[in-house]
Amino acid sequence: MVEYAIGDLETGTGVVEALAEADTVVHCAGSAKGDDVKAAHLVGAAVRAGVKHIVYISVVGAERVPVRSAVDRAAFGYFGAKRAAELCVAESGIPFTTLRASQFHELTLATVRQLAKLPVVPVPAGVRFQPIDGAEVARRLAELALGEPAGLVPDIAGPRVYGFDELVRSYLRAAGKRRPILRVPMGGGAYRAIRAGANLAPDRAVGVRTWEQYLAANR
Ligand SMILES: NC(=O)c1ccc[n+]([C@@H]2O[C@H](COP(=O)([O-])OP(=O)(O)OC[C@H]3O[C@@H](n4cnc5c(N)ncnc54)[C@H](OP(=O)(O)O)[C@@H]3O)[C@@H](O)[C@H]2O)c1
Repeated sequence: MVEYAIGDLETGTGVVEALAEADTVVHCAGSAKGDDVKAAHLVGAAVRAGVKHIVYISVVGAERVPVRSAVDRAAFGYFGAKRAAELCVAESGIPFTTLRASQFHELTLATVRQLAKLPVVPVPAGVRFQPIDGAEVARRLAELALGEPAGLVPDIAGPRVYGFDELVRSYLRAAGKRRPILRVPMGGGAYRAIRAGANLAPDRAVGVRTWEQYLAANR
């Protein structure tokens, strides 16, 4: 029988109890906003529960995307929260391993599918992604969880870099839809960093399953 307990990382309720007797914690819980708060609650509870190893999943570019202005926060606040969460884990005093991953195929598909519901599909001009299969990231996390704490380990990223518009076009083709794509220039330092490729890790293109293969299997 699998035993489990439920904790809410937004409020911290039930998290210490959920960690009872855990030596290693793989912290994958996340959402578009507030991952810094979730990490703080997890780390506080992990210290109290005597956890010996935290494995954390962050995002490629967490340290390279500056989130300073209100515009940055509105569009790319996720990167700032992931960076704050990384620091919280690293400064916890608990031995840790942090893996930064590029965007998962699953999220890429959910995003382009949602955008393609609009009569005109807006994409931020010049933004590129390097999507990776979530299962490949999960396998790497499991490997890291079974090993010794290793600090910040090399990024994991997908096999190829695509323009956002290219990802939308391939989805539209696969779904048999036709939509005009509108490339929208944005402002702010975070956008400029992402436009320059801060969210990419071409030297760590270790993912195997391509976006095209994932799309064909999930039409
Ligand atoms: N998706 C990507 O492209 C990508 C890329 C790099 C890194 N990451 C990171 O990888 C992790 C997983 O991402 P994902 O896309 O697989 O996420 P996901 O499918 O949205 O799953 C997030 C999980 O977090 C749990 N969660 C959310 N809020 C919580 C809370 N307050 N307390 C406890 N649990 C909570 C959710 O539980 P419920 O289902 O019960 O709500 C869910 O199981 C995240 O940390 C994300 O930042 C994702």
